[in-house]
Amino acid sequence: MTGTDDRSIDRAAEVLRSGGLVAIPTETVYGLAACASLPQAVERIFTVKGRPLGHPLIVHIGKVEDLREWSGDVPGDAALLAEAFWPGPLTLVLPRDSAVPGVITGGLDTVALRMPSHPVALAILRKLGDGIAAPSANLFGRVSPTTAADVVADLGLGVDLVVDGGPCSIGVESTVVEVGPADRESGRSAEVTILRPGGIAAEELEGVLGRPVARSSTGPSRAPGMLASHYAPRTPIRLCPEEEAAETVSSLTSDGLRVGVLAPNRIDTGEADVSWDAGGDLDLFAASLYRWLREADATGLDVLIAVPPEPLGLGAAICDRLERAATR
Ligand code: TXA
Ligand code: MG
Repeated sequence: MTGTDDRSIDRAAEVLRSGGLVAIPTETVYGLAACASLPQAVERIFTVKGRPLGHPLIVHIGKVEDLREWSGDVPGDAALLAEAFWPGPLTLVLPRDSAVPGVITGGLDTVALRMPSHPVALAILRKLGDGIAAPSANLFGRVSPTTAADVVADLGLGVDLVVDGGPCSIGVESTVVEVGPADRESGRSAEVTILRPGGIAAEELEGVLGRPVARSSTGPSRAPGMLASHYAPRTPIRLCPEEEAAETVSSLTSDGLRVGVLAPNRIDTGEADVSWDAGGDLDLFAASLYRWLREADATGLDVLIAVPPEPLGLGAAICDRLERAATR
């Protein structure tokens, strides 16, 4: 169903209110949505995705002020970041309100909150008048969906309704930032930590806060997007510096393998079966990344050579996703 008319917004809100699951477009990736106040509906998300219980979900909200309905304590730095970047691809991890269902927080004492900017997501949130719990609408561990067709291919009949809002403009998930408690005297939080790089760059957060933010070291955690292996296509991925790409391709093709190349800049890899590049445009790289990973699977490649961009700005999120996609 296309999501731009009032009828489809009304219908989506109705299905959510009655405990159904709706795939909704956001500016980052498509989300698998349930009404956040209906724990049984939220539980179905885990079944449909094949996601283990205990992995916390993001609650999406339709107004900045709704922050206070879900979080018991909003430190000043969190309010600053929400003011600067909402609606948009930033998720804030804050102390939870006691009423937040445990199935959403995975038993943690924090809750993740985000106000998306996609007009269809916002319209559904406002019509529903409640929060929406939504992970990315893909099977657990696989590539996130950036079109309605991707959702249907992954989850098919598991979803009650798919709202088509066109391709996602940003194409990688939101930046997840944990904001620690504020110091009584200064009012500032001693700890502001990026748990997952994403659509808002670390440099942009630092610009607003006026000081450096921490980058959490990776490693196994209960945050699924932070598992070493995630966002993975079926095609094996090998990471490779730009200057070695051509030689790597030629050695693999001479072994008889079908090889693809995915790179930030145009490079000459004439012997590859297929290649994708972003022509030096990081926004385009992020917006195309998951589509290219899906196309690599559809092409039936034996191996995909991926050239990571510089890990600056949006490049940090792209590098993160490529590393996890390459880990098995
Ligand atoms: O862009 C996005 O964030 C998309 C769209 C649909 O909004 N959603 C998304 O959700 O990527 P998901 O579930 O695939 O990833 C959410 C990330 C996970 O790494 C999760 O562990 C982390 O947020 N997270 C959620 N609640 C948390 C909490 N209380 N503490 C720490 N991490 C949390
Ligand atoms: Mg996900």
